[in-house]
Amino acid sequence: KQSIKLGLMGFGTVGTGVVRIIQAHQDDLQKQTGLGIEITKILVQDAEKSRNISSMDNLLTTEPAELLDDPDIEVIVEVIGGIHPAKEYILAALERGKHVVTANKDLMALHGAEILNKAQEKGCDVFYEASVAGGIPILRALVEGFSSDRITKMMGIVNGTTNYILTKMSQEGADYSDVLKEAQALGYAEANPTSDVEGFDAARKMAILATLGFRVPMKLEDVDVKGISKVSKEDIAYGKQLGYEIKLLGLARRDGEAIEVSVQPTMVPKSHPLASVNGVFNAVYVHGEAVGETMFYGPGAGELPTATAVVSDLVTVVKNRKLGVNGRGMVAPYKEKILKDDSE
Ligand code: NAP
Ligand code: HSE
Repeated sequence: KQSIKLGLMGFGTVGTGVVRIIQAHQDDLQKQTGLGIEITKILVQDAEKSRNISSMDNLLTTEPAELLDDPDIEVIVEVIGGIHPAKEYILAALERGKHVVTANKDLMALHGAEILNKAQEKGCDVFYEASVAGGIPILRALVEGFSSDRITKMMGIVNGTTNYILTKMSQEGADYSDVLKEAQALGYAEANPTSDVEGFDAARKMAILATLGFRVPMKLEDVDVKGISKVSKEDIAYGKQLGYEIKLLGLARRDGEAIEVSVQPTMVPKSHPLASVNGVFNAVYVHGEAVGETMFYGPGAGELPTATAVVSDLVTVVKNRKLGVNGRGMVAPYKEKILKDDSE
């Protein structure tokens, strides 16, 4: 049977989930796209490490060129994380005409424009649904679902690790550092968990949401950030006595031309739906002028939820290839250059 060949960069939490979903749903994916999806190489840092899925051991390599220079590989899935070398690998893949799916919010928040412009120049797809709110298809919702509306506000819980920590501190009186270790063991936290607890991960996600939702490029340095590392068990207990839960909330608001984006620990009244978003779950409120208030809710991190977003992006790449519309922004996140060119 005919297949599209895929190079997977990274075989940690998310990479493992991607392999599991492709293996488990292969027939269904084939029915939707008319093509099989074949993983031909997997780039890792340590090829000797023992893996949860040993059947892929023969595909492991530590040489990026084995993926990048293989003309049969049409799509690269980047789930290494961080800026370097992920950025160089993605740009090199696009340079060679390969489509890219990534879960990398650090990279897309900081260098998204450069990557999307390169993709457009080369006629390639770049999708990054998994970069915000794990298993919730919020980027597609913003770009496609609300294309007819004018979004004025987005607010929510967009980091699973900190919500997991705050929930355990609130419900079980657990210790901050113990629960952080649990979140790391469960694969929720970033390689450097400072990104989670100091609010930087949430800030990157809010910058991506604001860019897509408000259709204006948002600079990361314009996001006001405070994390949860200074929130104590006592703060949480005191808040509860007064009828509040403490949540790390992201807020993006537009008032005329002015845009304000922030991330900070916030006292949420227990009666508010966001107060009962617990554990690794995320929730995003989107307010549009015409639609009014909508809320998106689901798992914000973890192996399989995140991998669903990655593999769904992959399905879109394959469908676009069938239609011959790769690189044309079909169900793609906002590209400033495309919009500019179209309006000229
Ligand atoms: P992870 O578990 O730490 O896995 C990273 C993988 O990348 C590992 O397989 C590692 O190789 C490989 N790697 C690291 N540096 C490399 C290098 N220089 N060259 C080649 N391979 C390298 O990370 P993850 O949790 O899967 O996260 C991956 C990405 O998804 C990140 O951008 C993260 O922000 C994003 N994300 C994660 C989640 C989540 O719930 N975990 C959710 C949404 C988005 P070894 O296995 O040999 O060490
Ligand atoms: N570390 C991130 C979180 C992973 O906890 O939300 C999902 O983006």
